[in-house]
Amino acid sequence: MLIAGNWKMYKGPAETAEFCLGLREADLGPAEVVVCPPFVSLAVAVQVLAGTEIAVAAQNVHWDEQGAFTGEISARMLREVGVYGAIVGHSERRQLFGETDGAVAKRAEAALAAGLSVIACVGETEGERDRGETEDVLRRQVSVLPDDDDLVVAYEPVWAIGTGKTATPEIAQDAHAFVKSLLDRPVLYGGSVKPDNAAGLLALPDVDGALVGGASLELDSFRAICLAASS
Ligand code: PGA
Repeated sequence: MLIAGNWKMYKGPAETAEFCLGLREADLGPAEVVVCPPFVSLAVAVQVLAGTEIAVAAQNVHWDEQGAFTGEISARMLREVGVYGAIVGHSERRQLFGETDGAVAKRAEAALAAGLSVIACVGETEGERDRGETEDVLRRQVSVLPDDDDLVVAYEPVWAIGTGKTATPEIAQDAHAFVKSLLDRPVLYGGSVKPDNAAGLLALPDVDGALVGGASLELDSFRAICLAASS
C-alpha cells in the first residue's frame, strides 16, 4: 500500500520542516509513505526525513535535462536534491495549465529514464462521466503512459478532487479494474480521501493506495489515512 500526500501549493520550507519533524516521530504503520511538497520545500523535506522510510517526491517534472524552459524543473535537478519521484499529469496541471497527454507522457518517460519513480494521474471530469465517456478518457490518458516498474497510476476523478465528493466504492473499483486492464501497474485512488473513508476505499481489491490532497496537510489526518492502509 502506497500513501502519497500531494501538498499542492501549501507549506513553504519552514512549515515543511516542522511537518516532517512531526512525521518522523509519528507511527504511520507499514504503509509506504511519500510526501510531495512544492519545489522550494523539497530539499528541506529530504533533509528532515533522511534516515526514515518516508520518501519525498515532486509535483511535476520537465522532460529535458536543462534548457530555456522558464519555470520548469528537470529530473536531474530533482535527483540532485535527493528526491525519489514525481507526480505527472495531475488534473490541476491538465485543467489550469494546459497540460496535454503528450506532455504528460514526455514528463513520465524522462523522469523514469533519470531514475525517478512516477505517479501518473488520470481521471474523468464530471461532464465526461455524465456523457458516458469515462472509459474513453481513461483509455486515452493511460495509453500514452510507459509500462515501467517504477510507474504507478493514480485514478483521480476530477469531480472528486477537493470537493468532498468521493467516488463510491463501485465507481472506484470499476475504474481501477479498467485502468489495470490497460496497464498492469498499481493504481492509487485520489479525490477527497479522508480518515473516515480511507479504510473502505483501500480495502477494494484493485485499490493499491491513495493520493491524498487536503487531508495530507494535517499530521493527524494524514497519519490516520496511513494507518487505515494497514487495517
Ligand atoms: P483532495 O486532492 O484529496 O484534496 O481531493 C487529491 C489530489 O488532488 O491529489
